[in-house]
Amino acid sequence: MRIGLLTGGGDCPGLNAAIRAVVKHGLGEYGHTVIGFRNGWKGVAEGDVQHLTRNDIRGVLDTGGTLLGTARYHPHSVEGGLEAVHTTLAAERIDALICIGGDGTLHAASKVAETGVQIAAIPKTIDNDVAGTDRSIGFDTAVHIATEAIDRIHTTAESHNRVMVVELMGREAGWIAVQAGIAGGAEVVLTPEEPFDIDEVTRRLRHRHRAHASFSIVVVAEGAVPAEGTAMEWETKYGGYGEIVSGAVSEAVATEIRRRTGFDTRVTVLGHVQRGGTPLPSDRILGSRFGVAAVDALAQGRTNVMTALRGEDVVLVPLEEVAGREKRVPSELIRVANTLA
Ligand code: F6P
Repeated sequence: MRIGLLTGGGDCPGLNAAIRAVVKHGLGEYGHTVIGFRNGWKGVAEGDVQHLTRNDIRGVLDTGGTLLGTARYHPHSVEGGLEAVHTTLAAERIDALICIGGDGTLHAASKVAETGVQIAAIPKTIDNDVAGTDRSIGFDTAVHIATEAIDRIHTTAESHNRVMVVELMGREAGWIAVQAGIAGGAEVVLTPEEPFDIDEVTRRLRHRHRAHASFSIVVVAEGAVPAEGTAMEWETKYGGYGEIVSGAVSEAVATEIRRRTGFDTRVTVLGHVQRGGTPLPSDRILGSRFGVAAVDALAQGRTNVMTALRGEDVVLVPLEEVAGREKRVPSELIRVANTLA
C-alpha cells in the first residue's frame, strides 16, 4: 500500500511522534510505502512530496513542531483545489491518506473523503476542541507550559501585590485556560464557553483582596467575550488570516479591572510558547498510539475514520460524525476553575 501523510493547521508538540509511528509501523508491520506531503493540504494540492524512510524519523520522538511542515490551507475552499488533490494522489499512486490535524484540517479531510479518497485522520490541537476524542495531540504539553507560566507569574504577582491577567490560547474553547487555571491556582478563568460579566469579575477580585489576599491571577482564553448586555463594550478583533488578534481581550479586561478597582494590573500574553518545544511523554505516547491505530485502520479497510481516545482506549470514530464539530469545556470544569479564589 502507498500511504500519503500530512500534518495541517497549527503545529504542536507530539506531531513528530505520530509521523514516526506511521512510518515505523507502516514500513515494519505491513511493508507499506509512506509518502509525506509538505505543509498540509497545500503540499497535496501542489504535489510537494517527501518520501519518508526510517532515516527521516530517526531522533524525532522528543522534538516539537512537525518535520513535514504545516499550513492552514483547505482544498475545498480554493478554486480547483480538490481537482489538484486528485491529480497529485493519482500521480503518486496513493491508496489512502493519513491526515493529522485539528478542526480545519479534519473538516477538509471529510470534504476530500466525500470525493472518494480513503482517509484515516488523527486529531491534534493544543486547543483540545476536536469532537469525539477525550484528548488531541499537543494539549497536555500546552497545559503544562501554561501552568508553569502561571506558577512563575504567581511569585511576581505576590511580590508586587498585583493583579496579573494571563492570556492563553483557545479561540472557540477554553480547555487550556481552564485546566492550566486550575493547576496554577488562578482566581478567575474566562472562557469562550461562558461569556463573562466584568462587574462580577471585579466584584470577586475586590472581595478576595478585602478578605485575605493582596494579589490575584486572572486567566483569559483568547476567545473569551463579555456577556451581552453587561458593562464592557467589546468586539472580538480578527487579523488578516481570520486569527484572533492576540492580547486584545486581555488588555481590555486589564484596563477595566484597573479602572474599576484601582489595583495595579499587568498583562502577560503567552502566545505561541504554548505550541513550541519538547512534547511531554503523554503527547509522545498519544501520537505513537494514534499513528499505529491509523495505519492498522487502513490495513483493515476501515477508512474515513478518526482515531480517538476514549478513557484508556484508542478507538475509531466515523470522520463525518466529528469533522466540523467542536468539543466545548463542560460547565463543571469552568465552575471549579472559578470557585477556588
Ligand atoms: O489552533 C491552535 C491555535 O494555537 C489556536 O489556539 C490559536 O488561536 C491559533 O492556533 C493561532 O494560529 P496561528 O499560529 O496561525 O496564529
